[in-house]
Amino acid sequence: MGNSIATGKLTSRELIEMELRHGAHNYKPLPVVLSRGEGIYVWDVEGKKYIDFLSAYSAVNQGHCHPRIVGALIDQAGKLTLTSRAFHNDVLGPFEEFATSFFGYDKLLPMNTGVEAVETAIKLCRKWAYLKKGIPENEARIVFVERNFHGRTLAAVSASTDPTARADFGPYVPGINIIPYDDLPALEKALENPNVAGFLFEPIQGEAGVVVPSEGYLTEAHRMCREKNVLFIADEVQTGIARTGKLLATCGNCSCSKGCENKYETRADILILGKAISGGVFPVSGVLADDEIMMCIKPGEHGSTFGGNPLGARVAMAALEVVRDENLAENAHHLGEIFRSRMQKLVDNHDLFKLVRGKGLLNAVVINDSPDSQTAGKFCLQMAENGLLAKPTQGNIIRFAPPLVMTEEQLNTACDIIEKTVLKF
Ligand SMILES: Cc1ncc(COP(=O)(O)O)c(C=O)c1O
Repeated sequence: MGNSIATGKLTSRELIEMELRHGAHNYKPLPVVLSRGEGIYVWDVEGKKYIDFLSAYSAVNQGHCHPRIVGALIDQAGKLTLTSRAFHNDVLGPFEEFATSFFGYDKLLPMNTGVEAVETAIKLCRKWAYLKKGIPENEARIVFVERNFHGRTLAAVSASTDPTARADFGPYVPGINIIPYDDLPALEKALENPNVAGFLFEPIQGEAGVVVPSEGYLTEAHRMCREKNVLFIADEVQTGIARTGKLLATCGNCSCSKGCENKYETRADILILGKAISGGVFPVSGVLADDEIMMCIKPGEHGSTFGGNPLGARVAMAALEVVRDENLAENAHHLGEIFRSRMQKLVDNHDLFKLVRGKGLLNAVVINDSPDSQTAGKFCLQMAENGLLAKPTQGNIIRFAPPLVMTEEQLNTACDIIEKTVLKF
């Protein structure tokens, strides 16, 4: 069987059946089996070419198999891949120096997946609450918002309001308050509790359907948190690394076109990164904070066998260099404006699209049908037929998040495919 895979003899259908037979059914992918990727394109096992408009949920911002990132992986893989943190390795220090200077923090705590970084932030916040804020033992609370998505561990699921993510996974982690998103009076009220240690949020809610909060929400929320000595914790696993047209979405939720370039209007006390920090080449995530917070964690109190491994560290440095050297934030900002204006024309002229929203190249279109309808799913199947891959998030909402290395010409070709699909649907 291994041989037939290597020689590409199995069809898409056979490979899908194989997954269904032997794999857990915890996902429901589009029936497309991909075997190759380059830049903004992916190919299925039958050789059909698609434009990738999901980028592995924004992990592949730098495009598939970016030569500079893959080159770093191959070079490092021949030297040293894993030491655990029982010993030092010669890449971790340079990565930590690079990442802290890139994002402007004192310290980095490297992990592997997005949700591990979220867990790290929660633990760090709780430690700080007891050691620095003086909250009584086991009383610390963290405020989350409705319809968040922070991953799939028990703490993340405990903070979730999505019944599918939560049901039958109780008992849940305590110490969590959930308030509506984009609601400053609700936050103000929640912060009245002196045992609140942190406010953990997504600057734009990706999984919820690319929900952009009102202008000024983040800056005001930050001010309120500071006033109450509450840590402002940004989950930028999906929005970070140039996706929303700026290096970070927390550098201001305004509609200006400054690009901000590493200068925050709002600066998180704890910044959570994952996905595109390694360009989708290797799982790397991490939490950034200043010493006052990060030094609350002492040896043995948190860690991971793979966190900070030399392979991930090399890959992440290359991935961040690509973001900087290829001006991906600026490109995302520029192409995002074109994408939304082209989608707005479809909204204005056709019944199928109700609205388009987003920032940079993190956008969504709301389909004019009930949230539990199959219309968005059918539309995505039709787009796949026409050579473009995207997937519904939350029923009738389609997220459009292509790799940020896209050119204007490629973006227009993609918009033509979406338009053609709308016209025929
Ligand atoms: C905002 C946000 N946080 C955390 C996660 C979890 O990341 P991972 O799937 O790598 O654990 C995701 C994944 O989609 C996310 O969008």
